Amino acid sequence: MGTNQPKWLDNAVFYEIYPQSFCDTNGDGIGDFNGIISKLDYIKELGCNAIWLNPCFESPFGDAGYDVSDYYSAAPRYGTNEDLKRLFAEAHRRDMHVLLDLVPGHTSVEHKWFRESMKAERNEFTDRYVWTDSIWEEPQGMGCIRGISDRDGSCAVNFFSHQPALNYGFYKPDRPWQQSMDDEGPKATLEELKNIMRFWLGMGCDGFRVDMAGSLVKHDEDGKGTIALWQNVREFLDREFPSAAMVSEWGEPDKSLQGGFHMDFLLHFGPSHYNDLFRCAEPFFSDRGKGDVSEFIAKYKENYEKSERKGLICIPSGNHDMDRLARSIHGDNLKIAFAFLLSMPGAPFIYYGDEIGMRYVENLVSVEGGYGRTGSRSPMQWDSSTNAGFSSAAKEKLYIPQDESADRPTAEAQIADKNSLYNEVKKLIAIRQSYKALQSKGEIEFIYAEKDAYPLAYVRSAGDEKILVVINPAAREVSFDCNIIPKESIYGFGGTMSFADGKITVSPQSAGYFRI
Ligand code: GLC
Ligand code: CA
Repeated sequence: MGTNQPKWLDNAVFYEIYPQSFCDTNGDGIGDFNGIISKLDYIKELGCNAIWLNPCFESPFGDAGYDVSDYYSAAPRYGTNEDLKRLFAEAHRRDMHVLLDLVPGHTSVEHKWFRESMKAERNEFTDRYVWTDSIWEEPQGMGCIRGISDRDGSCAVNFFSHQPALNYGFYKPDRPWQQSMDDEGPKATLEELKNIMRFWLGMGCDGFRVDMAGSLVKHDEDGKGTIALWQNVREFLDREFPSAAMVSEWGEPDKSLQGGFHMDFLLHFGPSHYNDLFRCAEPFFSDRGKGDVSEFIAKYKENYEKSERKGLICIPSGNHDMDRLARSIHGDNLKIAFAFLLSMPGAPFIYYGDEIGMRYVENLVSVEGGYGRTGSRSPMQWDSSTNAGFSSAAKEKLYIPQDESADRPTAEAQIADKNSLYNEVKKLIAIRQSYKALQSKGEIEFIYAEKDAYPLAYVRSAGDEKILVVINPAAREVSFDCNIIPKESIYGFGGTMSFADGKITVSPQSAGYFRI
């Protein structure tokens, strides 16, 4: 730890853009950089001041771009490197920041490094990936690519079988083909990673969201090797790009923050209990009121303590890998979910379209390795024009089919309706931006988070500023023992709360923030 956190992260509210599906300006059915630039004012108007852009580099798109074939070139379907550079500049002009998605763990099989590494004769890229020294030996505990190269060996993969694992070494090598982190091959891979970062930071990006950041060093159970690797990267950044922001897809803040990341995500996989809130049979945020928030909070507290109460854990509204929030949470409860998401420590991340309650599109054939994730990646719904204003292409040419329902939400309609989800989210962001206690680094103390019970209550604080947050997704009145008497209400949704006789009584489906 001990790295300087860029100041703008303190009050950052991120908007995640899946470039394929955001806005198409040349009518080919797929989103592009110019489209994103044309919508920066929309994002800014909502109140978001930072963007995470999913991978936008050259790729055969077997995993939507998480299979990079050239780290130094923007994918032509989105535009040129110059267009991307302009996107950074246009964002900066609006006081916004942009994180690119860095995929350090694997490439596409089509990357020229991989093609070279498949050759039988030794060359510069022979050790760029994790290869065994015989086709008959598979790398333990990992999937692999075998039998397609002249080289005699099997190559480890990280995710899909077309994503060969880059070689950063093994924490404790125990086979002759396993290299240590200090061997030449792994050292060269790491230097190349720095070159890639140097290239895009030099172009004006503000940092990176790092894909599968905890997976780089192999057989590294406690993460010690991978932490050391990222510390090395942070030293390089501190020397050359001290203001670069780093957010990890790791899910273990105690490790990622030691590695020099500024923030980590709480995700839908691993032991986070994130799904208990939004995505399970009885989510806490459903109006049925049969959910349980207690295990999530217990885990959250554990992570919070491990990260020195710095509040650097980001809870996303969703992302390109999970079901849309609106698949299991409906109506007013979406607003209540946002009242929670926008009052927690760490930077909130809003997945494009979640601010208007875009739905999961059911029964789609997989697109670009999306499989079940495809329904969460459908094109943004802007207005009532053709293809919801996403693209002028023929419907069949759209990247992913859109929600066909007559009442599909659009940004235009929601902006016009003062009671819309969009306007509630906008209001919540504005409130967050006006109270330090509600922002990334404000402390949190849980007041009420009991097993199988409602509501959820916590106090956020920064110096003398203290804000009580009470969240009740259930369609019934609930109460809990609490002696706090607030000074002033700063946000309320869905009915009043009463404070009397050492009890707080909370209306059905309501949320409130109070200065105390
Ligand atoms: C991350 C990405 C996901 C991708 C995978 C492999 O989890 O978010 O979309 O498929 O890594 O790169
Ligand atoms: Ca396009």
